Amino acid sequence: MIARVIPVDPFDLIVFGATGDLSQRKLLPALFERDLAGQLPDDARVIGASRRRMSDDEFRAFARDAIGAHDARDAGRAAALDRFLARLSYLSVDAKEEAGWSDLKRALPGGGDRIRIYYLATAPDLFAPICERLKSLGLTGGAARVIVEKPIGHDLASARAVNDAVSRAFPEERIFRIDHYLGKETVQNLMALRFANALFEPLWNSAHIDHVQITVAETLGVEARAGYYDSAGALRDMAQNHLLQLLCLVAMEPPRSLAADAVRDEKLKVLQSLAPIGGEDALRLTVRGQYRAGAAEGGAVKGYLDELGDLTSRTETFVAIKAQIANWRWASVPFYLRTGKRLASRVSEIVVGFRAVPHSIFNESTGPLTPNQLVIRLQPNEGVRLWLMIKDPGPGGMRLRRIPLDMTFAEAFNTRQPDAYERLLMDVVRGNQTLFMRRDEVEAAWSWIDPILDAWRASDEAPKPYASGTSGPSAAIALIERDGRTWHDED
Ligand code: BG6
Repeated sequence: MIARVIPVDPFDLIVFGATGDLSQRKLLPALFERDLAGQLPDDARVIGASRRRMSDDEFRAFARDAIGAHDARDAGRAAALDRFLARLSYLSVDAKEEAGWSDLKRALPGGGDRIRIYYLATAPDLFAPICERLKSLGLTGGAARVIVEKPIGHDLASARAVNDAVSRAFPEERIFRIDHYLGKETVQNLMALRFANALFEPLWNSAHIDHVQITVAETLGVEARAGYYDSAGALRDMAQNHLLQLLCLVAMEPPRSLAADAVRDEKLKVLQSLAPIGGEDALRLTVRGQYRAGAAEGGAVKGYLDELGDLTSRTETFVAIKAQIANWRWASVPFYLRTGKRLASRVSEIVVGFRAVPHSIFNESTGPLTPNQLVIRLQPNEGVRLWLMIKDPGPGGMRLRRIPLDMTFAEAFNTRQPDAYERLLMDVVRGNQTLFMRRDEVEAAWSWIDPILDAWRASDEAPKPYASGTSGPSAAIALIERDGRTWHDED
């Protein structure tokens, strides 16, 4: 099946931090894919900007390597790659000093009609100086817009400071705060599933749903990112943004339309309805873990502290939380969230666990009745599975078995799953903010996270150790099992 491509308007994309990890692993390959698909107009340009000195050709060679390393599928792509590289140029710009800014201004002539996108893929302490500089050079007017990468702050106060600084240069409707989980195909499918089918909505509440699980498990460790990661930890790095955004999409009321503010208003209400977890509750309702040496990705791996080179760090590489949404729809339905590095397998999924049937007409010989589950698999093997009870086929009496109604997208559509950044970058060019976080959402998420961080800081407890290649600390299993439930672990 061929995906439909709608070309976007001409644009200049200026990537600050162009020689960094995000640009190399995600942005350049994503832009190339969109070019290959025919979505970029002839005069779309990408300007890399970083402090490092580099010529245009050196930047093109950097981009060629970045794309080559991520896409070796199609032998006929060489011409497309040359065409894409010709769009690239490079400027050495020092975010905190004078150097390079007049060159950037010169590279962006003309008035406000042309779409200019500034991508802040830098260390967060450079967001404010870059925005200030762009404003003072008169480069923030007209159709100019800015993409802000996470982390947006490390707590509520610092997030407000970042938001204030960006807002002094750009109005909210031209600020695109990226959470790349919102660009994942299956995450968008969650909206289709909920709001394009009449089947689920009548069941989507505490009368029929027993609990929800959201898992984002990674096999990777922190590796070269240890410096950043140690100042963040799993709660800030993954839960404050990705996990809470997924929770919002599961829990929000039907928005009146797909308009950006209609969706974001509903997500905000969910964030504001999260029951606060602070003090003693934080120690009861959350579990922190830190990986030790073990086996992962086919070999022996070091523990976090050795990777970091600091044996005193108490940064968590795993977190599990039992959250509650205090509103009419979700009263008493726990949302169990967990994420961690160096776990047994890479899997991200949302599991909606339905309530058991109210009365069983079957006897023990039919086998246990397992409540229905809707499993939305974000990665890998994107798809949706609805687990149902059926009669075991054939004679021999009534025996029941649990099987899934299975829709694996790769099989169903036989099409490439685009990377989240492809979709999100094109949405910025189109000016569509539906899949981007509004300021108040980011701040509401921090308001809920801060008391957990405070309680952890005040406690003497260290994160619970877990061996690399396992499913995390046993306390995370206990967190759900003491409620009589289990984490969903399937093939
Ligand atoms: C990033 C986190 O936001 O998401 C990383 O900073 C994490 O620590 C990554 O590895 C996971 O993204 P994905 O798309 O690979 O699930």
